[in-house]
Amino acid sequence: MQHKELILILDFGSQYTQLIARRIREVNVYSEIHPHTLPLEKIKSLNPVGIILSGGPMSVYDDGAPEINEEIFNLGIPILGICYGLQLIANNFGGKVEPADDREYGKANILIQNETKILDGVRNNSVVWMSHGDLITKMPDGFSINATTDNTPICVVSNEEKKIYGLQFHPEVVHTEDGKIIIKNFLFDICGCSSNWTSSNFIKSAIAEIQEQVSDSRVICALSGGVDSSVAAILMSEAIGDNLVCIHIDSGLMRKNESNDIIKMFEESYNLNLIHVNASEQFLTKLKGVSDPEKKRKIIGNTFIEVFEEESKKLGQIDYLVQGTLYPDVIESVPVKGQSVTIKTHHNVGGLPEKMNLKLIEPFRELFKDEVRAIGRELGLPAEFIERHPFPGPGLAVRIIGDITEEKLEILREADQIFIDELRRFNIYNDIWQAFAVLLPVQSVGVMGDARTYENVLALRAVTSVDGMTADWYPFAPEVLESASNKIIRNVPGINRVVYDISSKPPSTIEWE
Ligand code: XMP
Repeated sequence: MQHKELILILDFGSQYTQLIARRIREVNVYSEIHPHTLPLEKIKSLNPVGIILSGGPMSVYDDGAPEINEEIFNLGIPILGICYGLQLIANNFGGKVEPADDREYGKANILIQNETKILDGVRNNSVVWMSHGDLITKMPDGFSINATTDNTPICVVSNEEKKIYGLQFHPEVVHTEDGKIIIKNFLFDICGCSSNWTSSNFIKSAIAEIQEQVSDSRVICALSGGVDSSVAAILMSEAIGDNLVCIHIDSGLMRKNESNDIIKMFEESYNLNLIHVNASEQFLTKLKGVSDPEKKRKIIGNTFIEVFEEESKKLGQIDYLVQGTLYPDVIESVPVKGQSVTIKTHHNVGGLPEKMNLKLIEPFRELFKDEVRAIGRELGLPAEFIERHPFPGPGLAVRIIGDITEEKLEILREADQIFIDELRRFNIYNDIWQAFAVLLPVQSVGVMGDARTYENVLALRAVTSVDGMTADWYPFAPEVLESASNKIIRNVPGINRVVYDISSKPPSTIEWE
């Protein structure tokens, strides 16, 4: 997609880089993250109106520390260096960077010394968020010091003529009280951006682009009922109408009434070409007696592909497959040392395009999840639907520890529904990123009335998170847990004990399998 105004973020490996991009997009300016190794020619061809150099874990004086092509400073494009980015600027303009005596981490107060466009409107003494082990000890040539903190004598620098600015702290994190003002100063006053990155502009240009790309070809979409695939389906249908065919596969591993609710919503409110396949038997037969989490995941992934392929064969010539790929999946990360291991095999329709010889359409390749939600709202999807917690592709299969039976699924569905209803009743559903119940293969002794019981344990899980990569357990008020536990034990035969999972990610994961 062609964007008139791009803010280019060059990534030096900071944990906050994606946050910079999100902050910029929140004020309706388009931004992209690229590795710091992006060649100068490529930078020029992207034609950014501003460049941000991110933070990073290394020190500029380390062997092999990431560098920057100094020609970037002669392009006449405004530049903002954050933390490591500032130190690169200092290094390039004859300044000096050295290890600090005390690593500064956390809150500090900014003391403004001189006016500069980048700090316009920032309150003296307001809190800024530091995370660094190095300091600038000699000023870069041609720059002035605009602000200090108690431990950082050179905290904000600028060369107004060249439009190059540097901050030792992180304006993108919420703890920097006036961080948004600083980012806006850079975007609007220094780079001259207008706020043209909006949901309605995105929809207009995405529709035009899809129409041009697809023309009269037919497109297929796996509609799971999750936010990404649902919004993608509606956007595609606005663009190409009847040439879109959606397939919803009910694996039998969905939550209570979920498949029916999804079908009902799409049939009642949208004019989608929707095929509903009830494949529960096929899935449950293949899963019979399987307890190993990775085996379960692989069986489910493969069965999805099989069913999808079978159905689509009935449809005649199809050329494209829609996928709800999001921007975080696309960003090329700055390599870190060491090899990553497979923690869980994520289920998606990844193998399909090659197998079925389909071309891919990924309308959300450039979007963050919150942007997809905003587009869904703009396209008229109900708020309750847009705000739903994420649900994993393998569904309840990874929330039943051990083998899967129809009876266990039934117990889990009932208990999960009661738990989620309680979150809505206490009005905390939207404060939680994801919540669900897990059925454990553990039985314990209880007493109901005068009788002894020996039934299953159910675990409740609720986490807060930004992107699912890290998560904290949600600190419930005791009355919520009390009420959920009582209702579940009273109403769901087969469960006589409820426990709450208080593990964070890492070291645990969100799902149990
Ligand atoms: P974990 O358990 O890895 O989960 O901490 C992180 C997030 O990913 C979801 N999840 C999946 N989503 N296919 C998906 O589309 C999968 O196979 C899958 N496994 C986990 C999980 O629900 C959480 O939101």
